[in-house]
Amino acid sequence: MVSINIAFAHHKGGTGKTTSCINISGYLALWGKKVLVIDLDPQANATSALGIDKNSIVESMYDVMVRDVKIEDAALETEIENIHLAPATFDLVGVESHLYRTNNRIFILKRSIEGLRKYYDFILIDTPPGPGLFIINGVVASDCTIVTLDPGVFALEGIETLSTIFDDINEISGVKINPQLAILTRCNHTSLFSKMAGKKDPVKEIRKGMDGVFNSVYAVPYCVEVYEAQLKGVPISHYKPKCKAGVAYKKIAEEVMRQDARCKRR
Ligand SMILES: Nc1ncnc2c1ncn2[C@@H]1O[C@H](COP(=O)(O)OP(=O)(O)OP(=O)(O)O)[C@@H](O)[C@H]1O
Ligand SMILES: [Mg+2]
Repeated sequence: MVSINIAFAHHKGGTGKTTSCINISGYLALWGKKVLVIDLDPQANATSALGIDKNSIVESMYDVMVRDVKIEDAALETEIENIHLAPATFDLVGVESHLYRTNNRIFILKRSIEGLRKYYDFILIDTPPGPGLFIINGVVASDCTIVTLDPGVFALEGIETLSTIFDDINEISGVKINPQLAILTRCNHTSLFSKMAGKKDPVKEIRKGMDGVFNSVYAVPYCVEVYEAQLKGVPISHYKPKCKAGVAYKKIAEEVMRQDARCKRR
């Protein structure tokens, strides 16, 4: 077994990176895949969304990135069968200034997960907003990247910026970033985007604007059950899989299983 590593990335905040990462991990785990979720965000939302009490964390991604602690020593079992979590704590905020003084700063995560790939089918990396070293470490350590977008008026502008960021990362790291899949989150047809653009189908419009950028574009509807599942600390697959967002994330997870084969051939 060699894991397929996937980063969830967008420099903009609140686009649904964590929600998508956790809910996709839930389905993969339900289907018997061994999943490691890496929380690379000082907000530690993925850590809470998997039901981990932050006060119980002894070693976190801070220790991995700064003190060379092995991820396997920081990783925790979660209540969800087949999901392990490398947790974040707020002290991750101090990591970037440390990394700027470190050689090979963009490869720290990639190197630290190399030896783990044989234990997991999937390693999913939740990155924080902003164009800093966390997103760079996340996408450089990944075989492919999932981009999440909220269907607002600036969604397409965001893609242009993101493409520039990915090109820059490619230039400095030599690693080709594969933004395989885009997810429009909290999507409904009365969204701000459709109203302001006077368009009925925001997914179609955004798809047009993303021609040639992504292989597939999925939409996940706004659903209160997503929020409830996060409060409970479980993925939607383990809470209300039949709600609209649950069904949408299941389809996306099926696509991720198909991407698995494609990425591995690369
Ligand atoms: N389909 C959905 N239905 C309802 N609420 C959603 C849905 N998707 C995301 N949300 C909510 O939107 C908010 C932002 O989502 P999320 O935290 O996943 O974004 P993010 O990109 O990880 O944010 P950040 O950039 O701060 O890390 C959260 O409160 C989440 O519960
Ligand atoms: Mg997040």
